[in-house]
Amino acid sequence: MEYKKYYRKTSLKQKGVGSFFLEEISKKKPKYFLEIGVFHGVTARNVCELLFKIHGNNFQYIGLDLFEENDENKHEVIPNTSFSSNPIKQFYYKYIKRQNPYSLDAVKDLLKKFKDNIHLIKGNSNKVLKKIDMSKIDYVFLDGGHEYNTVLNDLNCCFEVINNDGTVLCDDYDLKQAPGVKKAIDDFIEKNSFNCSIICNGRFAKIEKFHIHNENH
Ligand SMILES: C[S@@+](CC[C@H](N)C(=O)[O-])C[C@H]1O[C@@H](n2cnc3c(N)ncnc32)[C@H](O)[C@@H]1O
Repeated sequence: MEYKKYYRKTSLKQKGVGSFFLEEISKKKPKYFLEIGVFHGVTARNVCELLFKIHGNNFQYIGLDLFEENDENKHEVIPNTSFSSNPIKQFYYKYIKRQNPYSLDAVKDLLKKFKDNIHLIKGNSNKVLKKIDMSKIDYVFLDGGHEYNTVLNDLNCCFEVINNDGTVLCDDYDLKQAPGVKKAIDDFIEKNSFNCSIICNGRFAKIEKFHIHNENH
């Protein structure tokens, strides 16, 4: 399954990781997908393309991100959102698209063919997730803030998803620069006794209610 980059930045850029991720999703065929941490929307578009192939128009994608670097967000971990090392892409976004790819409008534009299936939210997961009805969500890709407290908050807000037999796939479990991710996941698993599989050479932590046998990790 090919993971496309759509001329933007994504955290799943490493060879093979994007297709591994899409294979994981296609095993579960979710209908209500939540991505925490949308960034440029590359994973969002790949997920929508995949879910459209599986379900036609019968799916929903919800994406949440700060979509802005400001004073209030200064303690959150936001990757470098510009193309400082790529003048062609810089030119393309500044003068041709006239868009900041890290903005709600630019992500809306990238997902416009799925406009009836998507719901994008600009906000901080520490505040917003508590207000979202999680009862229908059956798959979460957790890739937002990388601080311990933020990851733990996000996981706590996903409790219902896991308890309803959904899946939470967390990125960057093994990221040395963000040790809070691993610690928050480990603490959450210990407290709730859910099953956690570490897959894709340590990169993703997949959290589910029960252990599923015969999986190729
Ligand atoms: C690693 S990027 C996400 C990459 C994206 N999932 C992909 O696959 O390309 C992390 C994103 O999380 C967002 N973020 C950081 N802290 C956040 C928070 N507390 N609430 C919502 N989004 C947050 C950042 O703005 C950034 O866009």
